[in-house]
Amino acid sequence: MLNFAIQTARDAGRLLAERLGRTLQISNKGDIDLVTESDLASEKLIIERIRSHYPRHAILAEESGDVIMVGAAQSEWKWIIDPLDGTTNYSHGYPCFCVSIALERAGKVELGVVYDPLREEMFAAERGQGATLNERPIGVSEVDQLNQAMLCTGFPYDVRQRPHFAHYFSSFTMEAQAIRRDGSAAIDLAYVACGRFDGFWEDGLNAWDIAAGVLLIEEAGGKVSDFQGSPLDIYTPRVLVSNGLIHEQMMRVLRSAPASH
Ligand code: IPD
Ligand code: CA
Ligand code: CA
Repeated sequence: MLNFAIQTARDAGRLLAERLGRTLQISNKGDIDLVTESDLASEKLIIERIRSHYPRHAILAEESGDVIMVGAAQSEWKWIIDPLDGTTNYSHGYPCFCVSIALERAGKVELGVVYDPLREEMFAAERGQGATLNERPIGVSEVDQLNQAMLCTGFPYDVRQRPHFAHYFSSFTMEAQAIRRDGSAAIDLAYVACGRFDGFWEDGLNAWDIAAGVLLIEEAGGKVSDFQGSPLDIYTPRVLVSNGLIHEQMMRVLRSAPASH
């Protein structure tokens, strides 16, 4: 099934790359949450593949929600899909976006892939088997001091409902060596898994943004939790991940930000 996910993510990613820069039909989902024709085309490709290979599996896809298939309601297998993570980047031609596909069994993510078609980087993990980048094993970084760490974060679409994000951002800016904001949570998580980033936090994420990325980090030796350090439920919006060594220091910053009082 990992090979199936890899092949499907590669094909969907190619579709996105081929369409990049073409005149786009863009519509706004809510406030500023964009959806392009490419999101929809990529999602259609992925869902059709799953339907033909695993017709009894359930699917949760960003643009379609829960896809109901005959017999799938009882299935313990569920594919969790973000057909284009980094839509705002994509719609501006900013080259940072990916496809994220994960497979959950009885509520536990068992495999995940994140594919960046422009850099041709395929991040993949299967529970208990480690994580890879283009088939080579990867691991998290060894930075153990926050002031030497390069962190990443994301700004949720509904910033007006989550004004405290700015407090977290300013607190981390004072404490870390550098902060990046790349606009694709799945790529951000994959970069923590391979040691490019030392940690990441965001409030306002969905399961399809993170399902594959959190497994990559766990399998690469990192730590994933909520802002309090409790085990992460991928269906809740607050996510803190790191190489493990700076996790406690990141939690301290989140606790001390004015937002948490
Ligand atoms: C978004 C990106 C972004 C994050 C947002 C997500 P989308 O996903 O991952 O980095 O900050 O919270 O919703 O809409 O590009 O698939
Ligand atoms: Ca997303
Ligand atoms: Ca998306």
